[in-house]
Amino acid sequence: MHDTVTIKDNSVLDVEKVRKDFPILDTLVFGHPLVYLDNAATTQKPEAVLKAMEEYYHTINSNVHRGVHHLSQQATDAYELARKKIAEYIGAKHAHEIIFTRGTTESINLVAYTFGKKFLRPGDSILTSGLEHHSNIVPWQLACEDRGATLKVIPIDENGELILDGLEKLLEGVKLVSVNYVSNALGTINPVREIIAAAHRQGTPVLLDAAQAVQHMEVDVQELDVDFLAFSSHKIYGPTGFGVLYGKEQWLNELPPYQGGGEMIKTVSFEKTTYNDLPYKFEAGTPDMAGAIGLGAALDYIQKLGLSTIRQTEHNLMAYALEALQEIKGLRMIGRSAHRAGVLSFLVGDIHPFDLGEILDKQGIAVRTGHHCAQPIMDQYCIPGTVRASLAFYNTPAEIDKLVAGIRKAATLLG
Ligand code: ALA
Repeated sequence: MHDTVTIKDNSVLDVEKVRKDFPILDTLVFGHPLVYLDNAATTQKPEAVLKAMEEYYHTINSNVHRGVHHLSQQATDAYELARKKIAEYIGAKHAHEIIFTRGTTESINLVAYTFGKKFLRPGDSILTSGLEHHSNIVPWQLACEDRGATLKVIPIDENGELILDGLEKLLEGVKLVSVNYVSNALGTINPVREIIAAAHRQGTPVLLDAAQAVQHMEVDVQELDVDFLAFSSHKIYGPTGFGVLYGKEQWLNELPPYQGGGEMIKTVSFEKTTYNDLPYKFEAGTPDMAGAIGLGAALDYIQKLGLSTIRQTEHNLMAYALEALQEIKGLRMIGRSAHRAGVLSFLVGDIHPFDLGEILDKQGIAVRTGHHCAQPIMDQYCIPGTVRASLAFYNTPAEIDKLVAGIRKAATLLG
């Protein structure tokens, strides 16, 4: 049972019009118009996001939750409004189930550290998958090492899909499952509903790394019944250095604090400190107010375009790109799942991904090369890395044509 995404209507974006919202897309690189195909690394920001952040600093910059004064209250209102928008975007029941972090990596580290401290015992295990970013491997290795637990892995097949046949058995002794929704390296959309249902049958909570999902498709935490979910603002058209951890209220209440400091406390004395309510228990220190407001503006922008329209537009572009790339002699697609979002990973003949990436760059085409912070996937395929073109709704078929021409040129030069 794959996690197919329902496309509610067939409407597509007026991409040329939308591109005007992203002035950076007019940049020239080595005399060529920029073709930005590194959206899985970070997305560009629409004017609306830049304006919202600038306006915050121009008009209401102040510390939140601390001042009785007018500016502080306005900043607090804007900051908490952003939390509400984020909660609504992912279908959370309560705004206080949204914890602000520096990004997906910090969100996962927060759960790994606190869950590990409270619930992991020697002999227990954590289950992840062979398709993960390092940020969904290393925090669990640290927690397991600390607690005498082990990390288990759902294997993947040659198409870059998870093998779930042995899942029930793998789940034995597992205290938490942490997998991604969409692979950053291959683009595979994982069957997360099936994984969540299997884990819950054994009473095991699930964390979803949705860093490569929330910008491409509807993600509803209540409908998924997922226990924790993490994503980054900068991959969904918002500012860098800001991210989200969603957790079901009962789980967040059970976990101990992550970092200590101001804001996360109710009372402090040298003898005893008591902790604040959700979400502040996990938000020590002055938060990134502009980050929250910027992400809120990014979600407003996406919702104005319509997530299902975005999905359809990207789906069409992906189909176009897959067909066009497969025409290239010697091109080998790495990860061949029919269920994919955003990412095309490939190799061409014996050309090293880095060399291909450099030649594309000289033509103004931005892609990522290497292991994409997912070395175990590269090991599985016995390759050093791939060239990764990653799409956003503002990319066009004409840009895909340039990518194809660029690859052909590189193949002629290097082949
Ligand atoms: N995690 C980001 C990527 O996949 C940086 O490129």
